[in-house]
Order: sequence, then C-alpha cells, then structure tokens
Amino acid sequence: MNRKTLAALGLAIGLAMPAAAEEITVGLMLPFSGVYAALGNDIEAGFALGLETFGDRTDATFTIIREDTEASPPVALGKARKLIMQDRADVLTGIVSSAVLGAVRDIVHSSGVPLIVANAGNDEATGEACSPFITRMSFSNGQVNRPMGRWMAEQGIGKVFTLAPDYAAGRQMIGAFADSFTEAGGEIVGQAFTPFGKTQDFGPYLAEARASGADAVYVFYAGGEAVSFVRQYDSFGMKDALPLYGSGFLTSALYVDAQGEAAQDVVTALHYVPTIDNPENDAFVAAFREKTGRVPSEYAVHGYDAARALVEASATGAADRAALADALRQVSFEGPRGALSIDPATNNIVQPIYVYRTIAGETGMTQEVLAQTPAEADPVNGCDMAPLIN
Ligand code: PHB
Repeated sequence: MNRKTLAALGLAIGLAMPAAAEEITVGLMLPFSGVYAALGNDIEAGFALGLETFGDRTDATFTIIREDTEASPPVALGKARKLIMQDRADVLTGIVSSAVLGAVRDIVHSSGVPLIVANAGNDEATGEACSPFITRMSFSNGQVNRPMGRWMAEQGIGKVFTLAPDYAAGRQMIGAFADSFTEAGGEIVGQAFTPFGKTQDFGPYLAEARASGADAVYVFYAGGEAVSFVRQYDSFGMKDALPLYGSGFLTSALYVDAQGEAAQDVVTALHYVPTIDNPENDAFVAAFREKTGRVPSEYAVHGYDAARALVEASATGAADRAALADALRQVSFEGPRGALSIDPATNNIVQPIYVYRTIAGETGMTQEVLAQTPAEADPVNGCDMAPLIN
C-alpha cells in the first residue's frame, strides 16, 4: 500500500490526517482491571518513567488518554474506536493480551494510526497479519518460547507435559516450544489448555500431568493465573517429581514474591529479568525503584522502551502518522534488556532471550541467569510488509 492509498483510507473514515508532530495524543490501551490488571499498571509505570527519562530528547509534548481494555477483545475494540475516531489519537500503545491485539489489528491498519505494542505477543501481528503501522517493542510468543525447546533438550530432558490458558497466547507459546523441543529430539507426552481467566483449581490438570510419564512440565501462565498455578503446583507436591519449566512470565518479578518459595528453582526463559547486568539496566532498576518502591518487571521494561521508541521516533521530525510509523520501525538502542532493534521484515523486536532460575535472595525471590541465547529475528510467518513511504 502506498502513501496515497493510506491517506485515502484515513480520509475515508473521516480522520483529519496527520496531526502536528509537536503535540502528540497517545492512546494508552491497557488492562486496569481483571486477570491482567497488575501487568497493565506496571506497563503504565514504565511508560511514565520512560517519558520522564527520555522526553527531553524531542520537542514534542505528549498527552496521554488511558483506557481500560480489561482482557476483553470486544471492550478493547470499542476503546480503540473511541481513541481513533473521537479523541483523534496520533499514536496508540499498550495492549497486553494477544486476543485483544488480534481484535484491534484491522482498525489500526485501516486507520493508519501507529500502534506500539507494549506486551501482547500474538505471532500473527508480526506475521500474516503484520502492518507497517504495528511495531512491537515487547516480544513475540514464538520468540520467547522457541529457545527453551532447544535448551531443555540439551539439558537431557526427554518427555514433557504442557499446560497453558486456552487462548491465542497460550496456544502460540506452547506451539513454539513444542516445535523446537520435538525438533531437538524431545517428546510431548500430553497437553492441556485450561479455560482462560476462569480456572481456580488446577488439580485435575496436575493429576493428568503426573500420570503422563513426563520428566518435566512446561507452561505459560501470567498475572493472577501464574500466582495460583505456581502455588498449587508446589502445594500438590509436584516440584520434586516433575520439575517446572515455562515461559518467564510464569515467575515474573512483578509477582514472584506473592509466589514465594513455591517459585524456588522454577526455570523459565524471557527477554528481561531485573538482574541483567548492564549499565542501562542498573539505571532503569534504580530509577524505577525510586519511583515505585518495587523492582521492575518485563512489563515495566516494555512500557519504558515503548516510551523511548516514541520519543526517538518523534525526535526525527516525523510530520505525519505515516512518517511516525516509519520512524518507529527504525528504532534501535541499547536498553535495559541489551541491544534491541526492529526487524524491518515483520516490525517485531529482535532481542536476546535469557534462561533463568528463580532463587531466594536476601530481600525476596530473585533471578539467576543460566544462559543467554543470541538475538534472532522471528521467521516472517507470512508477513508481506507494505512500504509506507515510497
Ligand atoms: C499475551 O496475551 O500475549 C500475553 C499476556 C500476558 C503475558 C504475556 C503474553 O505475560
């Protein structure tokens, strides 16, 4: 799609094309209630800190309009419509759930309002449903889970049972893990997908895992579900017989202290842990601690880096939304999680992945990094990226 077509699309749905770059209205779409509320709050805190830290690198000023998406695709779609049509947002950011990202993808693409994804890992948004207006500063579901399949097979683990909530993120994360684990010689001996946001009692699924003949269990859970899953796994006495592995959201710094010793020795992989040793991370951890009294999580770093990307893109003098979207795709910097850049083929972030063990530290649970896998771009997964500016 060329620039003229995009402009025509914008006019077709009644948008005043482009806003002045100096006053940028940002629609912040996050869950402030429901199962992912804590994640939304941490992303917002990171975003605010990012604007404070980097804001003087641009002449632009930012007005934030925040909307609660819950973890609900229809609610989020209504909020996206309001932000685009009524508030005339110049840029959108946030989005925690993969299902929410799937629901708002078309309105973002057709309205030409750039979206900086600050969590949701939906592979399709940087795959077959990619858009030059969608840039992801967080991770993709495949990217976080693929390295763990190889790594666990290298550790000699042969048979695995998997568990995850039954929605796009759970399916994609487990799918990526299972593909790389079986390619590396491992065997998936059983799988269960639990009703998302509704499962209080994981007992029946844990009994299934125990009876499956697996050597280990691999899961994706996040937020409130991660806290109850890890506690129940421990209280059912599963950890000794079947070591617990997963994507690193399971034992996020955001709620690992609520899991306490139940999380001890769980091994997971993620693109950020607060114990990463580099000067950018030291500064980020100190500033976030000072502001909030807590250690930052991966969610906080998504918000912080999304704000930095927005500042750096607006500092290029981008004079309209298409130019801003184009500048966002070219962002690259050394941040708290190491060197990161955006893959022009998909607009997904390229970043290292860290395998870490949760251990007891002096002031609570903490993360011991066991391995770092090199930054790799995702497969293009059917993305055919339209040029924005010819
Ligand atoms: C997602 O739905 O994409 C998602 C939600 C929470 C996470 C990670 C991914 O922690």
